[in-house]
Formats: sequence, C-alpha cells, structure tokens
Amino acid sequence: GILVRAGKADTEIASTMWGVFFEDINMGADGGIYAELVKNRSFEFAKPLMGWSVKGKKIAEGDVLVLNRQENQVANPRFLRLNVNAAMKGDVGIINEGFKGMGIKKGVRYDFSLMYRQQRSHVTLYVSLTDEQNNTIAETHFKLADTSGTWQKQGMSFDATDASGKAKLNIWFEGTGLLDLDMISLFPSDTWKGRKGGMRSDMIQMLADMKPGFIRFPGGCIVEGIDLANRYQWKKTIGPIEERQLIMNRWNVEFSHRPAPDYFQTFGLGFFEYFQLAEDLGAAPLPILNCGMACQFNTAEVVPLEQLDPYVQDALDLIEFANGDVTSEWGSVRAKMGHSKPFNLKYLGIGNENWGPQYVERAKVFQQAIKAKYPEIQLIYSSGTDPDSERFRYLNGELRAMDANVIDEHYYRSPDWFLKNAGRYDQYDRNGPKIFAGEYAAHVDGKITGSNRNIWQAAIAEAAFMTGLERNAAVVNMASYAPLFANTEGWQWAPDLIWADNLNVYGTPNYLVQKLFSTNKGTHTLSASIDNKSISGADQLYVSAVADRTKKEIIIKLVNTDTESKIREITLDSWKNIGSSGKLTVLKGNLTDRNSMENPALVSPQEQDIRLKGKTATVTLPPNSLVMLKVKYN
Ligand code: AHR
Repeated sequence: GILVRAGKADTEIASTMWGVFFEDINMGADGGIYAELVKNRSFEFAKPLMGWSVKGKKIAEGDVLVLNRQENQVANPRFLRLNVNAAMKGDVGIINEGFKGMGIKKGVRYDFSLMYRQQRSHVTLYVSLTDEQNNTIAETHFKLADTSGTWQKQGMSFDATDASGKAKLNIWFEGTGLLDLDMISLFPSDTWKGRKGGMRSDMIQMLADMKPGFIRFPGGCIVEGIDLANRYQWKKTIGPIEERQLIMNRWNVEFSHRPAPDYFQTFGLGFFEYFQLAEDLGAAPLPILNCGMACQFNTAEVVPLEQLDPYVQDALDLIEFANGDVTSEWGSVRAKMGHSKPFNLKYLGIGNENWGPQYVERAKVFQQAIKAKYPEIQLIYSSGTDPDSERFRYLNGELRAMDANVIDEHYYRSPDWFLKNAGRYDQYDRNGPKIFAGEYAAHVDGKITGSNRNIWQAAIAEAAFMTGLERNAAVVNMASYAPLFANTEGWQWAPDLIWADNLNVYGTPNYLVQKLFSTNKGTHTLSASIDNKSISGADQLYVSAVADRTKKEIIIKLVNTDTESKIREITLDSWKNIGSSGKLTVLKGNLTDRNSMENPALVSPQEQDIRLKGKTATVTLPPNSLVMLKVKYN
C-alpha cells in the first residue's frame, strides 16, 4: 500500500512552484496572444509590403510608394504614400492577409484604426473584411479629415455579420489626394479584460485556468537574439506602440525547424503588458534579460566586459520600472503608461541558455551591481542546455560558488529520461541555490512532428517527473513547461503546451498535467512511500503528496506507467480526523492519444467520489494514468 505521513519537517511549497514560460515562438505573441489582426501594420518588415497586396484598376507607376525616413525616425521609419486621383471604390486598394488569415467572429465588434496625414485631400476609406470565398462579412466606410499635413490617428468600429478563420482586410480609397498611411490596425473588441489593443481572451483564459504561480517572459532564445543587434531590449518595447522599434524574430529563419521569413516582433506586446498580464493572472512576473551574449547555438557574439554597462543598467532600470515609486525615473514611465502601483518584481533572470566562462564573468558583474542596489531581488542564472553534461557541472560549480539564488535548468529529453530522472532532485543540497526547472518537455521520437508529439506518452512521463519536483519543493521553487503556445499553421518548435489557430485553442494532455499540478499545488509537502519503498519508479509507480493547509486538504498524486492496472491501498497515517470520502481525478489514455482541434478533449480528466474505510482509500490506478486523490482533514 501507500503510506502518506505528515511530519513537522514538511516544507512549504513556494507560491511560484508551477508557472508558465512565455516566448514569442510558434506565433506566440504576434499572430498569437497579441490580438492585432494586421500583419506588418507599419511596413517595417524586411520587405516593406510583406503581408500586403496592392490592388485596383487605376494605379499608375509611382502611385503607391513606401517612404523611409531612416535615421529621422529610427523606431518607425517607413510609411505608405498613396496618390489617389479621382478614384472610385475598386480603383485603388490595399489588402492585408493577416497572420495566416484573420480570425473573425460573428457578432463581434472590430476596431479599425490608422495613422495618416493629408492636405487638401478628400478621400473616403471603404474598409471591409472578406472570407475565403470573398464574401463580405464586415464593412464600414468613413471620410478622412484634412489634417493639414500633420499625422493623426482615426478609427472606426464595425460588427462582423459572419465568421471566418481566414478573413482578409480590404481598404479601398475613393476621392482625390495624396495620402500617407501608417500603423494600420484591426483588433477584436472581445480582448482579454476588454482592453483596447489587447490580448486574445481565449488564449489567455487557458493560462488563467492554470492559476500559474509565475510567468516567465519574454523567452527563451529571443532574449539572446540571433546576434546582439537583434537581442530583446525591454526599453524598446514600452511606451506608445508606434514608437516601439520592431526587430526580426529570432525564430524567423535561423535555427528554426520551419523557417518563417515574415516572423517579426512588433512589440505591441511589450514589457508593460507582460507585467500587467502577470498581475491579471496573480502570477509573479519573471523577466529574463540578455546578459551580453547572443544565442550560443547561433553565434559566439559577446559584448566585451568593459562594454557591459548598458546591459547591467537595463537590468537596474527594469527593477526601477517595475518597483520604483512614481517619482523615480523609470517608475514614472510605468505610471505614465497607466500603472502607478509597483508591479512587485521579486525575480530576475540573467541570460537565457548561456554557458561557459564568458557567462560566469558576465553573470558576476550583473550580480554585483544588482545586489548592491537591490539585495532583495532573487537572481536566476542559466545552467546551459544539457543537464547531464560536463558543461553543466562546471557551470553549477561556479554558480554555487557565487552563492546564486536560483539556477535555471532546461531539459528537452525523451520520456524515458523523464522517468529515470524523477528522483533527480532527491540528493540536491537543500541549503544551496533553489532550482528553477525553467524549460522542459518530454520529446518523443523526432520523426513525429508538430502537435503529434503532444501524446499521452510524453505527458505521463512529465507527470511522473513532476511528482519528483513536487516532492523536492524544498529545493525546486519554480517549474515551467516549454514552449507554451503554438499555431497549428505556423510553428517552429514542437511539442508545445497549447495549440491555437485563428479562432480556436485547445490544451494538450501535457497542458492537463500542468494544470492538474498547478491548481492542486498545496501549501506543504508530505512524505509518501509506495509499498514501503521511497524510490520513485519502483514497480512503475510514482507518488507525491502535499497538504493544503488553507483548504485543509491532503492531495496525493500517483502515476502508473505500467500497461497493467494496479490497486493500491492509500493510508493517510497521521491525521486524527479525515473525511469519510474523497475525490479522485483520473487522467489516462493510450500512449499515442493526443488532443486536436477536431477532438480537443480526447484526453480529459474524469472525476469521481471515493469512500474511505477508516483512514484508507482503495484506489485503482488504470494503465498509464495520473490519479489524484483529495481528502479533507481537520
Ligand atoms: O522553448 C524553445 C527554446 O528552447 C527556447 O527559446 C530556448 O531557451 C530553448 O533552447
């Protein structure tokens, strides 16, 4: 049987224990949670008209130009100039294809806007959304005011009368004039919390449902960039969106399993929005910053140590941006953006997957500067990418010698690795740095691609491993699966936790495992042994137990990776009064089962009540299952 005991030494489980890792990969931000429907709204992609086509019966040479202000306006140099001459609807038009089309929902209001300037012109805009069959599913028109040659923003809202996941935006120009256009934008009104220019509510709801303890952002490799010029710089992602300077996404071409030449980071979703999202979700914000090194898989580009100051300053300023009062330089920037209250930043990551003596040298400079000014900030350090390598051991030694607060470990490994490593943290030093399992996922055979990799075999291996993380909450204080989102038509990396297209979203079996742990994390660990063996994996069973002292619940998670079902008696040994019945939640499936757009709930949790005999519950563990038992105590 299984014995569950509570003792005095039970450790507190960090509120940050289970979180989410967000990166703009697989169309995670642009074309993903960022609800902007227009691709290349400001004509700044590598090819200025990417995403756009120019149409019409009456377009002469030079009537459509992209003007580039270059260094006169570094953040947003380009705009579109149209010469419209006694045009009728159908004569001069521009069409935007969206991100793999646009997801338009029937009955929802859409907010169209643009920045423009014109002088002595009389131009009317006909704006419509059409579906794949070219049926109009939303339309409006409005006259542009004379702006006497200065830039102005104008917008118009209209309702969609039908739905399409593949709509496009058509803008026809009627009248006469010379017109400059920029920041052509279309947002649904049903964004997360109804924020204008906000996020896709269905995707964010998936995160909210997980009740994540933290949100790590903005990545991932995009923190490092293909090269230093293309690294993530948070200061360029805040303030008015038309002043945020976009860059090529690191997942655009290089080191990408599926190149996406039109993948850019517009930063409509930037650090302010990430902090705000963390607050919305009740999650601790966990930003990761570039440490003066570009992605080492790609280039060996590093900034010389004597030129590291601006990078370190970015970190110091970020802490002030998040936590400083409104009179501080960066705190006032936050306040101007609409958030006077601090964001309560406690954790900061230095570098993503960086390694080697160059990393250690740079990490030390960051540590010294940040700890001198903000000793309370918990710093997270990279341990590279290979948790079983000499490189990892070297880095670990160095980081422990530095008295690192938290070490970030990443592992994308086979399901078998996860099973064998369920005891990975059993021997870790309880008095040393805390561990952040910052990126992990079980990767089945590489010949399997895309969402086919999110099969139950991977999810159950992760579940078994996660019992080990939970059991070791004394040393592991954060964990996040990665990557988080992927678009079914535009991914670079798989498996992923949540798959989306323009209108739909579903959780993988891996998502269900994460959600089960995260929404039942408890407050304190308990000791649990199976058949008197404390070794996880014995008899293909894995267990962890926690108590939620607030809700007064004992929560036991069991994973059976055997093809046979097993019956086990679970005895809750050390409580005087426990409920006479409990709740069982069962996640099970064939190893090859996966969820999909067509069948989003093939693998889904089943709940049932269970009666206890005295202090014992007799539980059947189906083949390949994750079973959770919850019993009240007082
Ligand atoms: O999660 C996908 C990528 O895997 C991340 O960007 C990177 O940190 C890791 O190599």
